[in-house]
Amino acid sequence: MTDPICVLGIETSCDETAAAVLRRAPDGTVSILAETVRSQIDEHAPYGGVVPEIAARAHAEIADEIVSQTLQKSGVGLADLDAIAATSGPGLIGGVMVGMMTGKAMALAADKPFVPINHLEGHALSPRLADPCPFPYLLLLVSGGHCQFIAVAGLGDYRRLGSTIDDAAGEAFDKLAKTLGIGFPGGPAVERLASDGDAKRFALPRPLLNRPGLDMSFAGLKTAAARVVEAESLDIRGQADLCASFQAAIAECLAEKSRRALIEFQDGQGGDTRLVVAGGVAANQTIRAALNDVAEAADASLIAPPLRHCTDNAAMIALAGAERLAAGLVDDAGLTFAARPRWPLDEARAQADPAYGGGKRGAKA
Ligand code: KG4
Ligand code: ZN
Repeated sequence: MTDPICVLGIETSCDETAAAVLRRAPDGTVSILAETVRSQIDEHAPYGGVVPEIAARAHAEIADEIVSQTLQKSGVGLADLDAIAATSGPGLIGGVMVGMMTGKAMALAADKPFVPINHLEGHALSPRLADPCPFPYLLLLVSGGHCQFIAVAGLGDYRRLGSTIDDAAGEAFDKLAKTLGIGFPGGPAVERLASDGDAKRFALPRPLLNRPGLDMSFAGLKTAAARVVEAESLDIRGQADLCASFQAAIAECLAEKSRRALIEFQDGQGGDTRLVVAGGVAANQTIRAALNDVAEAADASLIAPPLRHCTDNAAMIALAGAERLAAGLVDDAGLTFAARPRWPLDEARAQADPAYGGGKRGAKA
């Protein structure tokens, strides 16, 4: 295509209702014309985690309004869009259905192509919203529902190098915060307390660290921390020390696995190496610093997109739609696409290794 492409993106796969309109120039440059993210944190906070039924209802109540407000803000009429893209999996199916059906209805009414997007592809392409970030690059996606290494070779060309075999790292932060009763989402609360803590006070496990390979595990760490809470009546000092010890354990696991992932990724590949970190856990300063050290030591650069594009958003979904349209990968079949609660990015690997395909665990997986 030689003309710019204008796409509306919709994201509703977990606890954010989001819409965005962006324009992609033929050279790949992106301008976000409008974007809205409405978080449901307040609705889920009393439960210490995302409740699927509450999420689906909240999306259904607000999706139309978010989409129409965003379109209006963008100054682009429905008739001027080139396509409508919506997350069609993986995720909490009730929410996915709301966004996907909203997108399909609009596409049908306006006679535009509908592009079903894999939410993980959105994350994989998210660095390209702000930065040219040429292919290939190594992505560490680390959030409340995802924790995986993906070698991004090109659009639609993803190889999963490793993933958590149980909880995602963000989920582990959330569980610790719930056990300590310090708030939801847990990551920011744990990070705040950890800033005054002694990371050496509690010797917590680093699961799978001494095993070869790039898979990760955080369930044992979460349980070990819960045992400390049960066994000792921690005062605020003790809580801070536990949070610091826990954060240090996660940072060490992510850093060491990233170090090995970079070696595997760089093997046989010349030129600059980019390590991209995305997902809500990428907000954590201790983790960022640890990843930065690893990247520097490997002569690679660490790219951390702005936080609003690390966490769930619709701009990355619109971008995936625009890149697919530009590459000629969009056909009429979009309107009949069935939502997929599980949708691994690397289908071949997930089939060969079905124990933990993309997004097996976690509310957002
Ligand atoms: O990307 P995100 O908004 O949603 C998905 O899971 O897709 O990530 C949310 C997760 C939560 O588990 C939250 O506790 C974690 O990211 N998180 C953090 C921090 N900020 C958010 N974890 C550690 N440190 C933080 N500062
Ligand atoms: Zn996500």
